[in-house]
Amino acid sequence: MPKKKASDENATVTLIDNRTGKSWEQPLLTGTMGPDVIDVRRLYAETGLFTFDPGYTSTASCESTITFIDGENGILLHRGYPIEQLAANSDYLEVCYLLLNGELPEPEQKREFVEGITYHTMLHEKLNHFFSGFRRDSHPMAIMCGVVGALSAFYHDSLDIGSPDYRRLAIYRLIAKMPTVAAYAYKYALGQPFMYPRNDLDFAENFLHMMFSNPCEDYQVSPTLARAMDRVLILHADHEQNASTSTVRLAGSSQANPFACIAAGIASLWGPSHGGANEAVLNMLKEIGNKDRVPEYIKRAKDKEDSFRLMGFGHRVYKNYDPRAAILRESCHEVLGELGVDNEPLLELAMELERIALEDEYFVDKKLFPNVDFYSGIIYQAMGIPVSMFTVIFAVARTAGWIAQWNEMIQEPVQKIGRPRQLFTGPTRRDYRRG
Ligand code: SDX
Repeated sequence: MPKKKASDENATVTLIDNRTGKSWEQPLLTGTMGPDVIDVRRLYAETGLFTFDPGYTSTASCESTITFIDGENGILLHRGYPIEQLAANSDYLEVCYLLLNGELPEPEQKREFVEGITYHTMLHEKLNHFFSGFRRDSHPMAIMCGVVGALSAFYHDSLDIGSPDYRRLAIYRLIAKMPTVAAYAYKYALGQPFMYPRNDLDFAENFLHMMFSNPCEDYQVSPTLARAMDRVLILHADHEQNASTSTVRLAGSSQANPFACIAAGIASLWGPSHGGANEAVLNMLKEIGNKDRVPEYIKRAKDKEDSFRLMGFGHRVYKNYDPRAAILRESCHEVLGELGVDNEPLLELAMELERIALEDEYFVDKKLFPNVDFYSGIIYQAMGIPVSMFTVIFAVARTAGWIAQWNEMIQEPVQKIGRPRQLFTGPTRRDYRRG
């Protein structure tokens, strides 16, 4: 891992408290790309002061070598490779290998990795009984949270996070079993039997097989859908220190086992401000219904008194186009065209919504562009995937990034439990007295 280094000439920033005239030097650290950081690890010890940054808008929570985002220029790199090139030339398991190991695999390395994942796709048979404890109408993300957390009850042999071999086994199991858990959650909701994974199919084909085949007839996985699913998985694989990844890192900082950490990440991703947005986008498009009503919803999105937000727009980091949205927009046309539904009204409505929003000064001024969630749901819908499964697919894909970031953290030479402080504005000390 390239080590962070002090800036050239050991640059520092000077902090001055104008109430006392006291000043302190804080070192500046420089990475390979992106903003320099003020190293405040000694700040409290030296000054008795905390920093204050709810939402971490200006805070680097860790050092990482995995994913780089340039929000101003709409750039996303995984281990230095542009997302556009990976989406066009790679496949999801190869991207998983890249995120985990830092380099693209040689052919033999890839074969071994794919084989390792393939032979861990089945669930322990007793785990299948967990699903029957849920109501049939349970949201599949609730099932994912429960079942993935329960994996730690089955795989004691991969809870020794200090052992690289055990970590690798846990990593393989998580990447391999997420599609199986996801597909079983879908089948359970339908009241259909679980379809076991097949070792003769690739990752995306296997997921579609487990989702859509049944024991009563042969199911041929469409190469078009499989390629589209694989590309969608690549686009959602990792994204720096987003809310769910930060949740996984914080859970992992207490040395919690990787299955529990990933379950925490799933819970965070579920929120409509984060991974739940793709489901919210489709529900929003269906509520808008037709192009004539778009101005009404744009008006609502701008109204501070109205909690409505244009789902699929805006991003904490991208203040330009989300490069993933651009690729998904292109995929939308390809997939819908190949499926013969390229006049899909929802796609036309989405394109009109995007056009109007990007002409509106409110969205332009606030740099609210479509994000990864704006188009993904339309592709899923065209593939016959129900809205409730949209965020589940995001979780399947993001498991690669979550576990790669967790693995990077676990290997840090100096690990500290994440324990933020606060700005306390509550009551000062007072003595108890009965009212
Ligand atoms: C993902 O972090 C990641 O990398 C996430 C992700 C990943 O791959 O992990 O990229 C995946 O989560 C994408 C985002 C999906 N969420 C949505 O599409 C939900 C709608 N978007 C918003 O909730 C919002 O844009 C966020 C949560 C995505 C970002 O919020 P920020 O950065 O905290 O920005 P903000 O809430 O402070 O908004 C800034 C201003 C506000 O107006 P003012 O208070 O300055 O007047 O922009 C406005 C907001 O009201 N605004 C919106 C808006 N998003 C922000 N107004 C209308 N519609 C929106 N969608």
